[in-house]
Amino acid sequence: MNVLITGGAGFIGSNLVDLYLSRGHKVHAIDDLSTGFGANLSQAMKNPNFKFDHQDIVTWQGLEKAVQWADVVFHMAAVVGVKRVLEDSLNVIKTNCGGTERVLEAAARLKWKPRVIIASSSEVYGFNTKPSFAETDDLVMRSDDHFRWCYTATKLMDEFMAQAYFMERDVPVTSVRLFNTVGPRQAGAYGMVVPNFVRQAVSGRSIIVFGDGNQTRSFCDVRDMVQMLSLLAQNEKTAGKILNAGNDREISILDLAKLVKKISESTSNIKFIEYAEAYGRPFKDVDHRRPDLTELRKWISFTNKWKLEDTLEDLVALETKKQQVRIPAE
Ligand SMILES: NC(=O)c1ccc[n+]([C@@H]2O[C@H](COP(=O)([O-])OP(=O)(O)OC[C@H]3O[C@@H](n4cnc5c(N)ncnc54)[C@H](O)[C@@H]3O)[C@@H](O)[C@H]2O)c1
Repeated sequence: MNVLITGGAGFIGSNLVDLYLSRGHKVHAIDDLSTGFGANLSQAMKNPNFKFDHQDIVTWQGLEKAVQWADVVFHMAAVVGVKRVLEDSLNVIKTNCGGTERVLEAAARLKWKPRVIIASSSEVYGFNTKPSFAETDDLVMRSDDHFRWCYTATKLMDEFMAQAYFMERDVPVTSVRLFNTVGPRQAGAYGMVVPNFVRQAVSGRSIIVFGDGNQTRSFCDVRDMVQMLSLLAQNEKTAGKILNAGNDREISILDLAKLVKKISESTSNIKFIEYAEAYGRPFKDVDHRRPDLTELRKWISFTNKWKLEDTLEDLVALETKKQQVRIPAE
């Protein structure tokens, strides 16, 4: 099978690359390396079944041909991370909507259309106050922090585009609302909580919790997430649908900080700072974010294999190794 992965040098994209190469498929990854890293593909680069193009999906002339070659397309490329979204909104809109449109249009023009999976986000549930979010729940955006919703709106537009291309142009596309995904290769530079906590704890610096830490999240290991995405790609009956994917175990951010501290045996203290200080502007975070996976489980048979503790142990070990390499020998 031929698998095309946009954003293939990114956190989730590169884990998808490795999954499909390990199954003996041919994989083509495209990435502009804006938040992805060539190093994420160091193993893949040694594989003759792998091809990489350092290209921007918004402008690259080769995109149509790449989509034509593919049996399955995972469209993961996007501008992500709260910090970048707040500071680089125009690029968010151009990449997240423009890129998705180009991928879907390229697929629509083909007689034999590839299966397409589009990465949407749990962000679309916004300030819905239900304890867990099902696909039929309201998407609640507030008016008092307009630009916060820029990324959310692009992901929602991607879903609309996917459904329109399914209904009007017969593209077999599924939108997946990914909930917080964590694991090896996730970059902390753009405000991602788990890599930041792990780095802070391993280095012995304060673990910085934004707000009061009572906000909760549900973290899914990336190795589980890519399995779910591949099962969804296999199931053609999910074309035209919007489905949640993630892990439904919930934890408060303060408890996460404590867990990271415990697992890393860190001497760090836990420090609280206001969102305004963290982002340089007022920011209201969502209180809870937990997926209802009932609908997903109707379509794929999958149980999460990675416990958060195991993921954190892995991440602490990787970070410890990294920081030891950085400290020059006396
Ligand atoms: N990680 C999560 O918890 C999470 C949650 C919800 C949704 N998602 C979605 O999953 C997808 C992958 O996210 P990730 O966490 O792996 O982030 P990531 O930043 O590691 O991956 C995105 C990749 O897209 C690339 N990219 C950005 N703009 C590009 C462009 N114009 N052309 C080509 N490549 C470009 C980046 O360089 C990066 O490698 C994104 O669409 C994101 O919105 C992720």
